[in-house]
Amino acid sequence: MKIIEFEEVYSTNDMARYLAQEGEDAPFWVISKKQTNGRGRRGRVWSSLSGNLFATYVIKLDDVSKLSPLYSFIIAIALKNCIEKYIPNKQTLLKWPNDILVEGKKISGILLESWIDKPNAFIAIGVGVNLLQSPDIEDKETTSIKDYSKPPEPKYLLSQLDAEFNILHEIYINEGFDPIKKMWEENAFGFGKPVTIKSHNENFFGIFNGINEAGELILIDEAQNIKFIQAGDVNFTH
Ligand code: BTN
Repeated sequence: MKIIEFEEVYSTNDMARYLAQEGEDAPFWVISKKQTNGRGRRGRVWSSLSGNLFATYVIKLDDVSKLSPLYSFIIAIALKNCIEKYIPNKQTLLKWPNDILVEGKKISGILLESWIDKPNAFIAIGVGVNLLQSPDIEDKETTSIKDYSKPPEPKYLLSQLDAEFNILHEIYINEGFDPIKKMWEENAFGFGKPVTIKSHNENFFGIFNGINEAGELILIDEAQNIKFIQAGDVNFTH
């Protein structure tokens, strides 16, 4: 496991991409104690409070066709497996597309980005985990590992995450998305529950029915039509 450490960066995702483009051999992790410009999904800011984990993993793919959003499910399951070791007696669940929730509260964030440098493609998997502090996020409750137990050192959690990710990545390479999809759905928050999804300028309502082979959310609307949602913010209504 190769880790490149920083005291402060704008964003570990930006630094990871810069290093890869400068010729750093992937796979590698970038970890930083501070982020001054941490980014969240959908153009949001990721408030990077001190003591939390900020890291990005870069993977090099030998073929552009291997680029896939499905990596976000692999990392989400890996992260859940790591986080739950520190959360005794409480269920840790996955919320589409890649949130991890403890008692319904967000404890981490994942930001997947990719670029092409022919013939290769690169994926940067950014991971933020609330170890010591819970950032304020609009319309969302947040928590941190410290609310439940003594948090690990960021680098220690990263080594656990690397190990978990590699196991699941191997499964994905050898057996495809099916076993990953199954693991994700078994741990999904709100399966079969009514949900509202804000996607671009549209709102969708229906029953959350898992994910398809492309990682899209399956929604059954009031007229029993099946819809596949590619991106959006999910809110469980009851
Ligand atoms: C989300 O909106 O839930 C995703 C948040 C992702 C935050 C992590 S922190 C490390 C990496 N660097 C960033 O700028 N963002 C990701």
